[in-house]
Amino acid sequence: MKPEILLIEPMLDVIEARLDEAYVVHRHYAATEQEAIAKALPSICAVVTGGGTGLSNDQIDSLPALGIIAINGVGTDKVDLVRARGRNIDVTTTPGVLTDDVADTGIALMLAVLRHIAKGDRFVREGRWARGGAFPLGTSPKGKRLGILGLGQIGRALGRRAEAFGMTIGYWNRSPQTDTGWTAHATPTELAASSDVLAVCVAANAATQDLVNAEVLEALGPKAIVINVARGSVVDEDALLQALWNGTLAGAGLDVFVGEPRIREEFFTAPNTVLMPHQGSATRETRIAMGEIVLANLQAFFNGEKPPTTGN
Ligand code: DGY
Repeated sequence: MKPEILLIEPMLDVIEARLDEAYVVHRHYAATEQEAIAKALPSICAVVTGGGTGLSNDQIDSLPALGIIAINGVGTDKVDLVRARGRNIDVTTTPGVLTDDVADTGIALMLAVLRHIAKGDRFVREGRWARGGAFPLGTSPKGKRLGILGLGQIGRALGRRAEAFGMTIGYWNRSPQTDTGWTAHATPTELAASSDVLAVCVAANAATQDLVNAEVLEALGPKAIVINVARGSVVDEDALLQALWNGTLAGAGLDVFVGEPRIREEFFTAPNTVLMPHQGSATRETRIAMGEIVLANLQAFFNGEKPPTTGN
């Protein structure tokens, strides 16, 4: 008999087909499956979920046979790792394969804000160009200072890309990273005071909650912008919205938000702000590579082996 697994959110069709081959897949997001899922809870041994979605403690508690939470992403902030460890549940992620796409998203957001790409698109479509409307000049990244908050794989990939645009790189990281030759700063506020663009790449956890707060935003100043490809919780959204609306920050490019997908509506009209629906790793190529890692982790677990990318 095939083992039973719970799929919290959809994956690529080709990956779901492979899951269906190997397992009885209960789809949490399918309204028609809810009754069957309620009956299957005692026999479900594995959950597959997204990094931005995770699994709540109530869900963990409702699955007495759960042995693995396979996250299709690198963020573990939506899973209570202590609770999982206490139950001897492996929590796996998909490290490495999404680094470049998330870094690309950071660069795309930075250029979109500095060069008014989204605003320009609306300007042309709405016929304002044809009517002779004026369009604002952009800001060149060349010669500007990129401050990277969190110098993990994604932060490093973002920095390498930014160097190609002629930017100088500074960073803040909890542990020193001396191999890059980039300038280390002692605190997020010191980094912000030396940055024109602040790129938030740090993992979300209790220690990084609201790390980008009013003080950091004030240190950045009215000509600087914030890019967030990490998690909404790392930025104090009250302070960010206030800075955008007051003009004490020049703009923001945001892929992630608190409470997504139902984000605060003040973002919809915030000045000089480009919004994306959490698409950092969302290319077909990368989603296939991530799916392969999820499949490998599940297979190892059901073979009685340690899943290769267990993070807890
Ligand atoms: C991650 O890897 O956690 C991404 O944000 C996808 O959710």
